[in-house]
Amino acid sequence: MEKLSGQKVVVLGATGMVATPVVHSLAVDNEVWGVARFHNKAAKAAIEEAGVKTVTLDLADPDVSRLPTDVDYVVNLAVTHSNDFAEALRANAESLGLIMRHFRSAKAFLHCSSTGVYAPNGSHPMRESDPLGDNHRVLLPTYSISKIAAESVARLSARLYELPTIIARLNVPYGDAVAWPSMHLEAISTGQPIMVLPGEPSYYSPIHSDDIIRQIPLLLGAAAVPAVTVNWAGPDTVSVQEWCAYLGSLVGKEPIIEETDMALPSVATDTTFMNELIGPAQVHWREGMARMVARSHPETRS
Ligand SMILES: NC(=O)c1ccc[n+]([C@@H]2O[C@H](COP(=O)([O-])OP(=O)(O)OC[C@H]3O[C@@H](n4cnc5c(N)ncnc54)[C@H](OP(=O)(O)O)[C@@H]3O)[C@@H](O)[C@H]2O)c1
Repeated sequence: MEKLSGQKVVVLGATGMVATPVVHSLAVDNEVWGVARFHNKAAKAAIEEAGVKTVTLDLADPDVSRLPTDVDYVVNLAVTHSNDFAEALRANAESLGLIMRHFRSAKAFLHCSSTGVYAPNGSHPMRESDPLGDNHRVLLPTYSISKIAAESVARLSARLYELPTIIARLNVPYGDAVAWPSMHLEAISTGQPIMVLPGEPSYYSPIHSDDIIRQIPLLLGAAAVPAVTVNWAGPDTVSVQEWCAYLGSLVGKEPIIEETDMALPSVATDTTFMNELIGPAQVHWREGMARMVARSHPETRS
C-alpha cells in the first residue's frame, strides 16, 4: 500500500518526536485520531489545528472505552521512559494487549519497536534473528526490556485477535523535529561534549522522517498474522563520530567527542529483510542531515 487516504487512523503517542510529522502528514488525507497524555499542550493544540481529533489517555492505565471504534489502521508510536520497571512494563507492554484487543477489527496494526532491543555486538549489522539484550540500560534503564516485552505482547495479541500486525524495529530517527542528531547539532553549536563509548566508532543507521512517513503505509500493507518483525532503518550505516564531524563542518564548529562508559552501544542495522518487504529508505544521511542543519541554522545557508 503506497499511500493512506480516506482512512480512519489512530496514532498512539501522537505528540512524540517520531509521531509529530507523521500525524501532520496523515491528517491531510485521513481522519486521524491522536492519543497521548498530552503533557505538551502546545503540541496537542498544533495537531488539533491540523484537524486531528485527540483522546487524552494514560497507557499505564488505559480506559479504552474512550478510544474510537471502526478504525482502519493503528500506528503505535507511544513510549514511556519511566525508570520504574512496573510502570514501564505496564505502559509499554501490558497496555498494548488491551489496545490491540480494542482495535481487533482494524485492517492492520503497526507497533513501533526499536533496534535498541538487540544485544550489543560491536559494529555487526543487526539482523532480525540476532540475539536480544538490554542494549540501552546505561541511559534508559527500563527501555530495552519493556520494548522486548511489548514485542511479545504484540505477537500474542496478533494471534489472539487475528489482527494483522507489523513490528518495526526503528533505528535512529531524525529530520526537522528534535532527535538525537539534532541534539548533537545543538551540542556542537554550543560547545558541549558528545558522549560515545571508548574504542571503535558508534555505528547506527539513521532514518529520515520523510522515509518514516513514506514507509508507514508500506509497513501497514505488509502486516500479517502471525506478526511480521522487521528492522526499520535508513540506507546507510554511519558513526556518531562521522555525522558529528559532518554537522560540525556545516556549522563551522569542531565537535567535542568525549569517551565514557555511560553511552549507548552501536546498533548498525541490516536492512536486507526490510528492503525485500517494503523497499529501502531513500534519504541518505548527508542529504538528510544537511537539510536538518539548513532548517535549524538558516544562517549557514550559502
Ligand atoms: N527517538 C528515538 O531515537 C527512537 C529510536 C528508536 C525507536 N524509537 C521508537 O519510536 C517510537 C516513538 O518514539 P519517540 O522518540 O517519538 O517518543 P517520544 O518523543 O518520547 O514520544 C512519546 C509519545 O508517547 C506519549 N506517551 C508517553 N507515555 C504515555 C502514556 N503513559 N500514555 C499515553 N501516551 C504516552 C507521549 O506523550 P505524553 O508524554 O504527553 O503522554 C508522546 O506523544 C517509540 O516506539 C520508540 O521506542 C525511538
